[in-house]
Amino acid sequence: MRVAMIGTGYVGLVSGACFADFGHVVTCIDKDPRKIERLERGEIPIFEPGLDDLVARNVREGRLFFTLEGAQAIKDADAVFIAVGTPTRRGDGHADLSYVYAAAEEIAGLIDGFTVVVTKSTVPVGTGDEVEAIIKKVRPDAQFAVVSNPEFLREGAAIEDFKRPDRVVVGTDDERAQAVMRDLYRPLSLNETPIVFTGRRTSELIKYAANAFLAMKITFINEMADLCEKVGADVQSVAKGIGLDKRIGSKFLNAGPGYGGSCFPKDTIALVKTAQQYGAPTRLIETTVEVNTARKKAMATKVADAIGSTDLAGKTIGVLGVTFKPNTDDMRDAPSLDILPALQAMGAKVQAFDPEGAKEAAHMLDGVDFKAGAYEAAEGADALVILTEWDQFRALDLDRLKLLLKAPVVVDLRNVYKPAEMVRHGFTYASIGRG
Ligand code: UDX
Repeated sequence: MRVAMIGTGYVGLVSGACFADFGHVVTCIDKDPRKIERLERGEIPIFEPGLDDLVARNVREGRLFFTLEGAQAIKDADAVFIAVGTPTRRGDGHADLSYVYAAAEEIAGLIDGFTVVVTKSTVPVGTGDEVEAIIKKVRPDAQFAVVSNPEFLREGAAIEDFKRPDRVVVGTDDERAQAVMRDLYRPLSLNETPIVFTGRRTSELIKYAANAFLAMKITFINEMADLCEKVGADVQSVAKGIGLDKRIGSKFLNAGPGYGGSCFPKDTIALVKTAQQYGAPTRLIETTVEVNTARKKAMATKVADAIGSTDLAGKTIGVLGVTFKPNTDDMRDAPSLDILPALQAMGAKVQAFDPEGAKEAAHMLDGVDFKAGAYEAAEGADALVILTEWDQFRALDLDRLKLLLKAPVVVDLRNVYKPAEMVRHGFTYASIGRG
């Protein structure tokens, strides 16, 4: 089938390349000439494992194209995907839908023959109705259906999540559109991936409900971690003990410094706003947002406690990892953006290393001295903080680390190491939820 993908950000580029890899012909459209130039040169603007090869192969095999001028591709398309950004609107926390509506306007003028217009971006409940109204207003005669098809892609695992999803959710009551969506995802039916057909608003809510639940699950285990530290229990064992119950499930029970990223923070706030707007407040998610925000700040206090003073003047702190999670260069709402400034506010000098995020982080973390590697970030520090669990931090040479540190203090905010092992090596070791 012919697909037009509007937006070549993280969701649009991964979705477009994967649809091309399914055998469809995909044209990715973007307004940013620099982005299109780089993509046409085979340069991928985001760090996503495997994406560069996937894009290069599908461009080479003539199934994937990039363009500034999307008119022809939209005209020819059986399905036009809206995969533009829906950032949190400054000030009121609602999702900013201006890019979505602009795409709808553009599509409206170009529809030629029955066309499925798909919102792939995460959009508040009811956005599909708005998109439909915009197109109808511009083209009362147009043959089209607006479909919700939310993505459940994790950064760093996006291709895997697209090609082997737990489910595909499609929100539409239009039978022609259902047939088009079935054809689009046909390669997945080979491994019996369930396609869940729902109403459009239901599909839009499923996306928010999924992310909000995952954010709440993480926040739950983070609170259990705080309790473990008080009662002398071990949160990793608690997670294992409850996670083996199939009704709970073992995933997303890793206690840490709080969730970040371009989705959970934005989507939880947008859901809270939608729920308040409709008079059905989600108090659980309101609390999740509050607890998570407070937690990120509390991590700086944990570091100061490990050093033994809240006055960090003259102290140097080494930080390993600043991205919101490993295997990404994405710094959006990363816990480091709260934790490192809080440490600096206590008087500390902060030096850091991140395998992929340093370039972007340098613009967002003033005064942080980015080093070339983990050991350089530890050199001369009064404490070393493990903030993002990149694989390369999992087997550090602890003897070498101890020699480099001014004081043998390690604060492990991702529980990468075992307390007994660290004590044996002579470290003062603080971690999460290990009483
Ligand atoms: C998330 C959802 O997983 C994905 O389905 C959705 O489409 C987009 O949002 P992503 O934000 O890329 O994906 O990352 P994810 O792996 O979910 O982690 C989100 C945050 O939660 C990260 O800050 C991560 O460190 C944190 N996290 C995750 C934990 O603290 N503990 C966990 O057990 C899992």
